[in-house]
Amino acid sequence: MRPQPDFIHEFVAGKSNRTLLLLHGTGGNERDFIPLGRELDPDAPLLSPRGKVLENGMPRFFRRLAEGVFDLDDLKKRTNELADFVASAAQHYKIDSKRIVAVGYSNGANIAASTLLLRPEILSAAILFRAMVPLIPETTPDLSAARVLISEGDHDPIGAAAEADRLAGLLRSAGADVTIRFFPSGHELTPDDVDLAREWLIRLRVER
Ligand code: MLT
Repeated sequence: MRPQPDFIHEFVAGKSNRTLLLLHGTGGNERDFIPLGRELDPDAPLLSPRGKVLENGMPRFFRRLAEGVFDLDDLKKRTNELADFVASAAQHYKIDSKRIVAVGYSNGANIAASTLLLRPEILSAAILFRAMVPLIPETTPDLSAARVLISEGDHDPIGAAAEADRLAGLLRSAGADVTIRFFPSGHELTPDDVDLAREWLIRLRVER
């Protein structure tokens, strides 16, 4: 039986006990970040769902009302649905549910941040490329075991630098160990982001 609730997704088996949950940006799909995942960690199993919301035909992980203005009811519902999928996929593929590291870009980073805030049991760590504050949770989650890397572009017109700082502050106030870095780039992902994330993951592997 397939994981329930299901998402269209790719799963690539790996040799390590840490799985990367790959979350694409608006207009992407489940195949986009498979090469990135392999580059970040050659040994990790990769789980890569496709967002279920369509905006003018472009897949996303939750609905938005305008650029940077999120439909919060939909965001909460979709976050829980994605979290339930990850939990059941972990059982289905026999991967360690305590060692799932999200790697999200833009819309994918925003749902990863929302998952940390609303379903803190799902992710042990997260790499957030070009993220914003997705929502303010009603109760502060316990993220004292979570590690987060936020990688931002100084000239990003969508997720402004102040947003990234605000997100870092929100996650830290919940106890997360947050590293934040800025590069002289825009919204696009650059080789600097990838190098930073790869090194951060190597340190995570050594320390945990
Ligand atoms: C979002 O909608 O999650 C952000 O505005 C980033 C984007 O996908 O453009």
